[in-house]
Amino acid sequence: MTAQIIEGLPVADRLRADVATEVARLRAEHGLQPGLAVVLVGDDPASQAYVKSKGEQSKAAGMHSVTHLLPGDTTQETLEALVRDLAADPAIHGVLVQLPLPKHLDEKPVIELIGPDKDVDGLHVVNAGRLVAGLPALVACTPTGCLILLKATLGDLTGKHAVVVGRSLLVGKPIAQLLLAENCTVTMAHSRTVDLPGICRQADILVAAVGQPRMIRGDWIKPGACVIDVGINRVPFDNPEQAAAGKTKIVGDVNYKEALQVAGSITPVPKGVGPMTVAVLLHNTVLAAKRLAGVS
Ligand code: GUN
Repeated sequence: MTAQIIEGLPVADRLRADVATEVARLRAEHGLQPGLAVVLVGDDPASQAYVKSKGEQSKAAGMHSVTHLLPGDTTQETLEALVRDLAADPAIHGVLVQLPLPKHLDEKPVIELIGPDKDVDGLHVVNAGRLVAGLPALVACTPTGCLILLKATLGDLTGKHAVVVGRSLLVGKPIAQLLLAENCTVTMAHSRTVDLPGICRQADILVAAVGQPRMIRGDWIKPGACVIDVGINRVPFDNPEQAAAGKTKIVGDVNYKEALQVAGSITPVPKGVGPMTVAVLLHNTVLAAKRLAGVS
């Protein structure tokens, strides 16, 4: 038997439709139009595509949406001045600075300037701390999307052993906290973990967020486990002729073909976790707008 495929698109579509309904209500009943500002520095093609999609989808949901495209040689001072303006702009309720920034820029002071209330990425120390403390927080979009898919697939997660591979601030750390809050037993694994395959084999829920194409092999997976693949890696085509022609495709951190034979359920790449990220971003922006405006 092959694994159940966890499709992200229909779940993301439903969440986006709910967001659009809530935006329409806020506009009609409170004259409040949630506003999202997205900032991109440089011309990385993948980041450009993500940012374009964030702008289009926020507009489609009826939100106020602005996108700032800055050249790759933008200075720290210029970026900080823009973020300071957006943080003070009453029409903007969410500010997202697309990561990674070019190497000469430091993201930490930029995230501090966004402030916790407009930090729709959940990257500000106050939101990270609130998440750990179990207080209402803006939580990073991709981990929230993963949790929605997990609960839709498995229902109650209590008592399950979740192994999170990767410890980034954007994915690994917040997803571990979310799973802990769902009463999972959580193991955090990373590049220095000893016997990573053995640790992964213990997982009822395996979350892969390492950024290494097809790193997690089929025999690292416990039969019947639920596998959430957060990786988005661009690799040459398997077919040598197409690869020679420079053709590339997107694969996850999990060897999908192998995993399909072992796992109970698995998110595909693309169209698994990916579509959830922007839908949750819109949801977070509405949440931020309501909190900033004091509207329930
Ligand atoms: N780059 C890749 N994913 C994300 C995300 O969720 N937020 C930001 N700011 N940058 C990203």
